[in-house]
Amino acid sequence: MEGKNRKLKVGVLGCGPIAQFAHFESCQKAKNVILYAICDRAEDLLERMAAIWRPEKTYRNYQRMLGDPDLEAMIIATADPFHVPLALLAIQAGKHVLVEKPLSHSIEECLALQAEASARGVHVQVGHMKRFDAGIAYAQDFIQQQIGDLLALKAWYGDNTHRYTMTDNVQALPIRSAKAVTPKVNPKDDLERYYMMAHGSHLLDTAYFLAGPIGRVSAQLRQKFGAYCWFVQTEFENGAIGHLDLTIKLRGDWHEGFQVYGEHGSVFAKTYNPWFYKSSEVECFLESEQQYYRPLGADGFSYRLQLEHFAEVILAEVKPKGTSIMEGMEVVKGMLAIQQSIQEAKPIYLDQITSGAL
Ligand SMILES: NC(=O)c1ccc[n+]([C@@H]2O[C@H](COP(=O)([O-])OP(=O)(O)OC[C@H]3O[C@@H](n4cnc5c(N)ncnc54)[C@H](O)[C@@H]3O)[C@@H](O)[C@H]2O)c1
Repeated sequence: MEGKNRKLKVGVLGCGPIAQFAHFESCQKAKNVILYAICDRAEDLLERMAAIWRPEKTYRNYQRMLGDPDLEAMIIATADPFHVPLALLAIQAGKHVLVEKPLSHSIEECLALQAEASARGVHVQVGHMKRFDAGIAYAQDFIQQQIGDLLALKAWYGDNTHRYTMTDNVQALPIRSAKAVTPKVNPKDDLERYYMMAHGSHLLDTAYFLAGPIGRVSAQLRQKFGAYCWFVQTEFENGAIGHLDLTIKLRGDWHEGFQVYGEHGSVFAKTYNPWFYKSSEVECFLESEQQYYRPLGADGFSYRLQLEHFAEVILAEVKPKGTSIMEGMEVVKGMLAIQQSIQEAKPIYLDQITSGAL
């Protein structure tokens, strides 16, 4: 369809759990996207997903998919170590890219991706979908427009022991294949590293989105009874101070949210497990009016909202507000700085991290 109502022809690479839980349905429901093609080397998985989601094309071979001239954009929904190499191939084929988080494990990879995307003039967005949680988006806008100078941010992200009991009730069980392509090293062999990349990356992107670039971190980690707790003192480049709390195997409910204190107001937010599709509950207080503002955020499908925005940037040239490659790299820098701060027991400046990998 041409003109204002044109839909972007999107391909999904990877038919694993995140594609099954989020991306296929997002493509199906997005107002400006067609699920044009899907790809997985595991043919059994590909076949089953094609039967459910009915893309126009299926591919077992990624390069062949990229050679399809009708395909306009890719969602890369594979394991972390494949993100950048596969995104580079898509960019070289002239396709726009929505790549799952974390963007990468290494600074060098992020820089290479940035260079290629700029050279080819394609749009790349990192899948930090929390930016499209209607409550968080409202809070960010309120902070930017109303709150003035920032004093402090506290943000916390607690994945809980009862998580799968809760999510198994609202999600279909993922369909798996013994033929799936997996990284050489199982990411879950090193849980400290895995938790930081899987969950810490979300927390850092949310902090960045709300309060801007982080200048310095000073981190501590405690591991006890199978639980992990990182407390990270932060200093933002705008002079605000912060405290980030990443806790995994928290004994209790999912525990996520933030508080922001500014010159003219404050923000208090509670975020839900993303698979509940419920926007954050956010209360924004404005000193001059002595009033709280509290959005409903009825549409809580943040994965679909991130995709619709991605397509809008490409089709309607709206200003990108998703995580850019450079912002995705800031998240990687933040994770590296936290790791280094723990190892060396001292504060680490993010601008001193110019290379290296987790
Ligand atoms: N945004 C979120 O909230 C969120 C939640 C969960 C997972 N994730 C991210 O999603 C990503 C994928 O997670 P997953 O659990 O679905 O991964 P997965 O490894 O289980 O599935 C990926 C699929 O991609 C296929 N694949 C990989 N490389 C391929 C290639 N070159 N050609 C064809 N097929 C290929 C594999 O066969 C596999 O079926 C991870 O980076 C993870 O961090 C994000």
